[in-house]
Amino acid sequence: MTVTLEVVPDPAAVCAELLVEAAGAGGDIVLTGGSTPRAAYERAARAPGDWSGATLWFGDDRCVPPDHEDSNYAMARKALLDPLRERVGDAGSPAVMRIPGELGPHQGADAYEHELRSAGPPRFDLLLLGLGPDAHTASLFPDQESLLERSRLAVGVEHAGLTPFVPRVTLTLSGLALGRHIVFLVTGESKAAAVAAAFGPEAEPDPHVPASLLPSLAESITVLLDSPAAGALA
Ligand code: 6PG
Repeated sequence: MTVTLEVVPDPAAVCAELLVEAAGAGGDIVLTGGSTPRAAYERAARAPGDWSGATLWFGDDRCVPPDHEDSNYAMARKALLDPLRERVGDAGSPAVMRIPGELGPHQGADAYEHELRSAGPPRFDLLLLGLGPDAHTASLFPDQESLLERSRLAVGVEHAGLTPFVPRVTLTLSGLALGRHIVFLVTGESKAAAVAAAFGPEAEPDPHVPASLLPSLAESITVLLDSPAAGALA
C-alpha cells in the first residue's frame, strides 16, 4: 500500500474535517492521545456535524483513572466530548468506548479486547495516530514485545518507552490494521527524524521504528504534517 504524506499549513484543521466527516457517516473512529490532537478535537467539537451515529474508540491509554491529567480519555473528553455534549445533548453525542486503563495494563487490555471482539471487531473508518520522536505510535514503543503480537487486538504495556512513564494499554499492530483509513497527525521539528525513518523514501519495516511496521499491514495511511515535521524528508 502507499503512504500519502501531506504537508499542510494547519494539520489540526484537516484532521478536524476528517473527524466531522467520519462522524457524520456514522463511522467507528479511533482517537489518539498525546498533546498534538487537542486542537483538532477542539475544532471538531465546534464544527457543525452529526455525531449521533458515530462510535469513538481509543488507540491507547495510560493506566491512570479516567479523570487523571495523563489520561488520553480525559483529554478527549475535555477537548471534544464535553463541548459536543453541551452543544448537541446526549442524543446527539457519539457512543464512547474508552480503554479502562485504571484496571492496570493486563486486565485493562483484556477488558478492551473483549469490547472490541464483542463489537465485531469493527473495521475503523478513521483511525487517528500520533508519532513520538522515537517513532512510537499508540503505545507501541521501539523494540518491545508488543510489536510481535498478532493474535490480540489490545495488549498491556508495563514499561512506557517515553514520558509519562506509566503502564499503558494499546491496540496492537493487528488492532491498528483494522483501520480503513489511518491518519497520522504529526507536527514540530522534534518529530522530523521519526517521520523520515518511518515514512521517508528510505524507510524499511524496523522494530526500532514502530510506525514503520504499519504500512505493510494497513489499507490506507495518510500522514498529515506541518513543514517542521516534514523537514527531514528528502
Ligand atoms: C500516547 C499516545 C502517543 C502519542 C505520541 C505523540 O498515549 O502517548 O497516543 O502515541 O500519539 O506520543 O504525542 P504528542 O502529540 O504529545 O507528541
